[in-house]
Amino acid sequence: MFDSLKISDLTEKQNTILRKGSNTRPTLWVVEEDGIRAVVKDFSTNGFLFRNIAGRFLVWRESKAYRRLKGLKGIPALYRVVDGLALVMEEISGRNVENIERDTRLPNEFFDDLEALVQRVHERGIAHCDLKRAPNTILGRDGSPHVIDWGASISDREFRFFPINIIYRRFLLDDYMAIIKLKLRHCPEAVSSEDMARYNHRSRAERLIRDIRNRLRELLQKIA
Ligand SMILES: Nc1ncnc2c1ncn2[C@@H]1O[C@H](COP(=O)(O)OP(=O)(O)OP(=O)(O)O)[C@@H](O)[C@H]1O
Ligand SMILES: [Mg+2]
Repeated sequence: MFDSLKISDLTEKQNTILRKGSNTRPTLWVVEEDGIRAVVKDFSTNGFLFRNIAGRFLVWRESKAYRRLKGLKGIPALYRVVDGLALVMEEISGRNVENIERDTRLPNEFFDDLEALVQRVHERGIAHCDLKRAPNTILGRDGSPHVIDWGASISDREFRFFPINIIYRRFLLDDYMAIIKLKLRHCPEAVSSEDMARYNHRSRAERLIRDIRNRLRELLQKIA
């Protein structure tokens, strides 16, 4: 699908822009072929260095995750990668959940489904690592959750050995913490006391790990 799409076809004349790119962010396009719509996450519009170092790396990381998650309901299908610079994926119709509480309250079932989805992702050996960013979760038109943006995800294979396997487990937990965070905003009464305790638990060691991780993230973001 979208086999003949070229980077040079990604123009405002031919397609709709979903989100304009910036120095460090890709452009998001909606493309259409034979009545099928796809979203293209395109790093070709970034500056030379970012495009060829961070861009290619992020596209490679994200496509790797999509291949491993292939066929999971709630994860968009990856149609193809164009020139190592752009991901062409299934368009999820709906809206992302950022600030969605201003308009609607997500029901408990949404969270049950999201938890089940994240569990299936973890069973495939992938941790998302950026679920706390609400724009990465989409409420589909059918009311079901979808998760996008796998550029920061990590796999169990890469984090197999001690001590980094501990970090991997921490990221798995973090994915669940992100769900609890969103759930607290929409149906706090449905958050179990166990989850609440886990969420509030901030041991000194954990805070230290979080600190180091955040600093690493900031550093990576700066490099990117
Ligand atoms: N497959 C898709 N179907 C529908 N909408 C999408 C899809 N992929 C991306 N989007 C929309 O584009 C936005 C940005 O996508 P994505 O998170 O992958 O890019 P990003 O550069 O990581 O952005 P951010 O830094 O805001 O997280 C999403 O919040 C979503 O609204
Ligand atoms: Mg994102």
